[in-house]
Amino acid sequence: MPPRANPPSISVDNVDLFSVLVRGNALRQGSSWRSSRGLVALLLVALFTCVVATWLYVTSLDSDITETLVSQWELVSPQPRVYSVQCSEDYENYKRYPGCTPQKCGRAVTDNVVTREEAQVLRRLAERGLALAGSEGGASILDLHSGALSMGKQFVNIYRYFGDQISDVFTQEDFQLYRNVRGRIQAVIAETFGLNPALMYLTKPTFFSRINSTAAKTQHDEYWHPHIDKVTYGSFDYTSLLYLSDYGSDFTGGRFVFMDQNGNRTVEPRAGRVSFFSSGSENLHRVEKVTWGTRYAITVSFTCDPAHGISDPALP
Ligand SMILES: *[C@@H]1O[C@H](CO)[C@@H](O)[C@H](O)[C@H]1NC(C)=O
Ligand SMILES: *[C@@H]1O[C@H](CO)[C@@H](O)[C@H](O)[C@H]1NC(C)=O
Repeated sequence: MPPRANPPSISVDNVDLFSVLVRGNALRQGSSWRSSRGLVALLLVALFTCVVATWLYVTSLDSDITETLVSQWELVSPQPRVYSVQCSEDYENYKRYPGCTPQKCGRAVTDNVVTREEAQVLRRLAERGLALAGSEGGASILDLHSGALSMGKQFVNIYRYFGDQISDVFTQEDFQLYRNVRGRIQAVIAETFGLNPALMYLTKPTFFSRINSTAAKTQHDEYWHPHIDKVTYGSFDYTSLLYLSDYGSDFTGGRFVFMDQNGNRTVEPRAGRVSFFSSGSENLHRVEKVTWGTRYAITVSFTCDPAHGISDPALP
């Protein structure tokens, strides 16, 4: 029997094939090792980025110091809670009126000037007036003095536009209550800052505001920007806000924030609560965006300059 012929070529080919296979495997292993090293490096970079982002977030939280000056559930009575701050130089650009121009500056909150019942009557008045029209965005105003009422993307004069319906909306008693409340607010501001109330004048704008979480449609709806009242309205010397609804139960968000160098200080609205402050840049402030519900308030401001004084709103 002839010996089986070796198929050397095949064997060589096999060896070659084998070596090719082995080499190929080694190459594949090398490349898979390299690509998994790449994956590990990528994961490390991602992890590092996450850690840095978290750290930045935590430190940014840390540096955003927010202190609650007055909570919704507190009852500030009988005396206002007063926080003094040094007056800014803003008042130096204006004529001084002794007995009125701020010498002492600060902010104060009282729940003892307007009752919750009175706040409710005023809120119903605001609801009726604003029900006639209202902004397309989340923030509507009704200025009883000028008659300006938000409507769509602009304003109309409620007395002219809704003249025939006005008696269904407002009564003489409503305006009397407004005057009465305005007088009490003026008295508490005078007492707190050591002023002569007879030398303070109601100034414009004085308005009801209604805010909900609907997105702004025009600049008029953007109530949340930080601002200084004396810069926005040169005539203002003292600003007051009378809240007509409760933070937490009627709405969320919408806290008032004094923005100081060293931290933000909030006042939580409460129906019947009056918050007042000197209007200069010592009281830079903003209102947080309302996130749910509806927030009602009235802004009542005073000037020391008789030329900028206005009379109380009245039915035409
Ligand atoms: C106050 O709040 C604003 C945002 O409303 C924030 O940018 C700022 O850092 C806060 N200030 C301080 C000192 O925490
Ligand atoms: C906000 O108020 C307006 C006017 O009443 C209303 O059309 C809108 O639906 C309200 N938005 C929300 C989110 O309740």
